[in-house]
Amino acid sequence: MIAIGNDHAAVELKEFVVALLQDMGYEVKDFGCGAGEKCDYPDKAKEVAEAIVGGECEKGILICGTGVGMSIAANKVKGIRAAVCSDEFSARMCAAHNNANILCFGQRVVGMGTAENLVRAWLGTEFEGGRHQGRVDKIMAIEE
Ligand code: RB5
Repeated sequence: MIAIGNDHAAVELKEFVVALLQDMGYEVKDFGCGAGEKCDYPDKAKEVAEAIVGGECEKGILICGTGVGMSIAANKVKGIRAAVCSDEFSARMCAAHNNANILCFGQRVVGMGTAENLVRAWLGTEFEGGRHQGRVDKIMAIEE
């Protein structure tokens, strides 16, 4: 199950990504706000992050105007490694090296084509473990 969240700045891209994920065969839980609603990105980031650390969802995608506010907020939740990306290489590497469990991006930054490439790259890449595991462990130890 993939959790998705968005604020009012990212309704259209959220709807595109939900359809994409479903086409890819994923189940999606949508925590985001819909057309005509207004909501604050920290609230949505917290809901999605808690769904992941609580085990309800495996990974999450958070979309706001830039992706930056969502990533800052989500990373406050213990157990979350949220990465804001606007290029495919970073989306692949944040899975391979950082084991990012949330991908963030911005509707005011990337178009639908790039968003699709980001999602496919991130979900299609496994964490490499090995030397990267120790570094991820060090990130998580900062939370203690
Ligand atoms: C909302 O206007 C905007 O600030 C928000 O979507 C996001 O870009 C914050 O990081």
